[in-house]
Amino acid sequence: MGIISKDIQKAVELLTNEQLVAIPTETVYGLAGNIFSEKAIKCIFSTKQRPFFNPLIVHIASLASLNDIVTHIPKKAKLLAAAFWPGSMTLVLKKDKRIPDIITAGKDTVAVRIPNHPVTLELLKQLPFPLAAPSANPFGSISPTKPTHVENYFKNDIKMVLEGGSCASGIESTIIGFENEEPVIYRLGALPLEDIEAVVGKVLIKNKKEENPDAPGMLARHYAPKTNTFLVTDVASEVEKYSEKKIGVLIFKSSLNNKNITEIVLSKEGSLQEAASKLYDAMHELDTKNLDIIIAERFSEFGLGKSINDRLQRATFK
Ligand code: TXA
Ligand code: MG
Repeated sequence: MGIISKDIQKAVELLTNEQLVAIPTETVYGLAGNIFSEKAIKCIFSTKQRPFFNPLIVHIASLASLNDIVTHIPKKAKLLAAAFWPGSMTLVLKKDKRIPDIITAGKDTVAVRIPNHPVTLELLKQLPFPLAAPSANPFGSISPTKPTHVENYFKNDIKMVLEGGSCASGIESTIIGFENEEPVIYRLGALPLEDIEAVVGKVLIKNKKEENPDAPGMLARHYAPKTNTFLVTDVASEVEKYSEKKIGVLIFKSSLNNKNITEIVLSKEGSLQEAASKLYDAMHELDTKNLDIIIAERFSEFGLGKSINDRLQRATFK
């Protein structure tokens, strides 16, 4: 029997018994455990083979529980929370002493978000504790946007993937921290920069690992297929260069109409939202086709295109 199930009650039971459950969110699937169970949290790190220095995001059902988790909410954090929660935004705030150090890798801040997915909101409402949930993939590999992605990764390690369909956003949440009360973007993501700036004005971006000791998870190589992947502006001429190889192509809207390649067009209509939602599934799929290389098209640095480029860059970094 498979591990994918719609049974929220079963998820409640497993989580209450300090077990892990993979949960759907609108960004990507998470590998969830009770934040107060040391056993569950250690299991998250070991299952993902994630280093302990990389802190986890705490997921809550409503703003009412935020005060149990953090000690201070800057004014602009309140504005952002009111505008975008539930949604694809994570805030990094000063942590309350109740939050175990293992969740935050010993930092005095905690990452928190209210996800926008009906199944997981219902689950969180039924639980008397918040859920820590990193993306449900082995450390460094492509994040899961469908239940089957998680099943393929972890069918021998966890008892349940809570079914919630394909993730609507398809890339991870945008992470925002605060320095001297001012918002700073630690990770570009599913909530576009322009939307954030419309609420709080210009924000600083510290998305690169080199600039950003505060988000140790932002490794240069991450979200990576096993197949050697390149990020280019002119896909057609790159395909010509490698004509003797088995090539996979990940392209935004216009097909190359080349029968010799395995191509995935992310959005025929040219919708960035659709492209983001299909990005990881396309990477998962191309990665199963025994290709020599994957050539991905660089997006325009606008809206979600900026976040998609960030992920493609990390997928192709050598
Ligand atoms: O969309 C998402 O955010 C998904 C879903 C499941 O919610 N979760 C996710 O978690 O992407 P994860 O663990 O793959 O990425 C969490 C990122 C890491 O880069 C980590 O370093 C950063 O959040 N992070 C966590 N706590 C932090 C903190 N206190 N300060 C700075 N960065 C933090
Ligand atoms: Mg991750």
